[in-house]
Amino acid sequence: KENIYILGIESSCDDTSAAILCNDKILSNVVADQKIHAEYGGVVPELASRAHQQNIVPVVHQALKKAGISKDQLSAIAFTRGPGLMGSLLVGASFAKSLAYGLDIPLIDVNHMQAHILAHFIEEDHHKKPPFPFLAMTISGGHTQIVKVTNYFEMEVLGETIDDAVGEAYDKSGKVLGLGYPAGPEIDQRAQLGNPKAYKFTKPKVDGLNFSFSGLKTAILYFVQREVKANPNFVEENLNDICASIQYTIIGILMDKLKLAVKQTGIKHIAIGGGVSANSGIRKALKDAEKKHGWTSYIPKFEYTTDNAAMIAIVGYLKYLEQDFADFDVMATARLKI
Ligand code: KG4
Ligand code: ZN
Repeated sequence: KENIYILGIESSCDDTSAAILCNDKILSNVVADQKIHAEYGGVVPELASRAHQQNIVPVVHQALKKAGISKDQLSAIAFTRGPGLMGSLLVGASFAKSLAYGLDIPLIDVNHMQAHILAHFIEEDHHKKPPFPFLAMTISGGHTQIVKVTNYFEMEVLGETIDDAVGEAYDKSGKVLGLGYPAGPEIDQRAQLGNPKAYKFTKPKVDGLNFSFSGLKTAILYFVQREVKANPNFVEENLNDICASIQYTIIGILMDKLKLAVKQTGIKHIAIGGGVSANSGIRKALKDAEKKHGWTSYIPKFEYTTDNAAMIAIVGYLKYLEQDFADFDVMATARLKI
């Protein structure tokens, strides 16, 4: 059988990425992240689209080079159609269209949220793929979603955040504590050295499987302001305990919703994705739930879990098998549903 080579392109937020897949195996996955946003403590859309414009050609060039193939061997080009920042999406979409048109090969549009989930189907040694049906929880700086996955393209969103994403809760709490951006990894590291029950933050009351994180950020802000009034060195002196308590609260919120989703669906296969799935607290909580509740959890290799083009390419491959191609008038869409 003939090999299928897919070029995947991802540009929905602040990472410009290109990947080459041979069937369901990754040959290369190049990511150029944008350091510029750290100065501003968050992603600046206008700067992001400019950086994509600069990065896209060298990143694609490098992906082809690392994969050891020429562009003439490509079978199709897959790109992120949405959801994401419009100016960022437009760069990837325009590039993908032009190249596919020039090479006269099919164009495949990919939903970024489906891609986070289908990243689990990249062929890797020692990685077990989740069996259908499974529950997918995508947790990152931009998303917080629980999805019931019945088949590759049969997905139902059971719940999602009504305000901030979980990664934003980490990053905004970090800002209050004077940490750098993104703060998730440092809060996680410090959390492992602190007492998770040192301070109590109330969990938001949100019905069903939806999430809310904006109240938590405000609660932490007021708490810190109050304590600092009494002791100006409060944060420095108690940083590990504060981080541990924040992490304990956030992981508690995620696990409460997962337990409810399992209860509602009867599905005990849990796959996570997104940058926050690197978090030690969620990993430990899932391991505990395997023992305690008979769940099985699935976590992709880290480079396929943050924003990357390998996950776009695997969706491209799965759609290619179905001959599910896009028209060339397909538009980037900032708010795209699963
Ligand atoms: O998937 P990602 O790289 O980009 C998107 O937002 O789509 O996720 C980045 C987010 C940031 O908010 C970052 O603080 C968070 O993931 N993050 C973590 C950890 N590593 C990254 N949050 C908690 N614990 C971590 N270990
Ligand atoms: Zn993402």
